[in-house]
Amino acid sequence: MGTGIFITGTDTAVGKTLVACGLAALFKESGLSVGIMKPAETGCIEKDGELFPEDAVRLKNVAGSDDPLENICPYRLVDPLAPSVAAERAGVKIDIARIRRIYDEIASRNDITIVEGAGGLLVPLLPHYTYADLAKLLKLPVIIVAANRLGAINHLSLTLESAAARGLRVAGYVWNNLERQPSLAAETNPDALRFLTAVPCMGEIPYVESFERHALAKLFAERLGGALDGLLKRR
Ligand SMILES: Nc1ncnc2c1ncn2[C@@H]1O[C@H](COP(=O)(O)OP(=O)(O)OP(=O)(O)O)[C@@H](O)[C@H]1O
Ligand SMILES: [Mg+2]
Repeated sequence: MGTGIFITGTDTAVGKTLVACGLAALFKESGLSVGIMKPAETGCIEKDGELFPEDAVRLKNVAGSDDPLENICPYRLVDPLAPSVAAERAGVKIDIARIRRIYDEIASRNDITIVEGAGGLLVPLLPHYTYADLAKLLKLPVIIVAANRLGAINHLSLTLESAAARGLRVAGYVWNNLERQPSLAAETNPDALRFLTAVPCMGEIPYVESFERHALAKLFAERLGGALDGLLKRR
């Protein structure tokens, strides 16, 4: 059984998929086999009569995973809503035991398996079951992707507090810069956070120009390399 990590974020559209792809690229180019899972993807658009999970496909390509998309992303939903709500509206029952079985199977065949959530940590998969519960069930350390912008000090602090309250192990957080030109908030957030938490900052990802595997692997090695040694050594 390889290591697994769970990628969550301070919000939706903060760069979880980008960071998951960067990590997958780096691990892959380091010679590791990389498993990928996006247990539920919402806001899927129909293509050739099937719901297309964009995040899962990007992850699969970067990781070079041969696993069928049905396993990488077992729940694909149309409405761009929290999975529990989108599933209810589509008449789909999300089966957590099934997600766990698939995760265990993928993780058993790979050195490292990266699981991407949807939205933030407390987004529900079932009406009373959140991604925090799933990370706990799968015994995954969590990496929090924080959009580096005004408001992030609060969003990241809340996410860290919530993870701690639920007994999750947080490997660290990653600042992600979604704007080419960093704002004053983006320049000052990292220092401000250091006073508020003992959880390590794993690094900062700048605005990315290329999403190609090799470019991502190089960037992530430079920016997060040191912070990942611990994760990889635990294998
Ligand atoms: N560092 C970055 N540089 C440039 N563009 C970025 C960066 N991070 C994210 N983006 C872009 O911002 C958008 C949102 O990023 P991403 O899809 O990774 O977010 P997410 O947190 O995975 O969203 P979701 O909640 O939908 O899964 C994407 O178009 C992505 O390409
Ligand atoms: Mg995503």
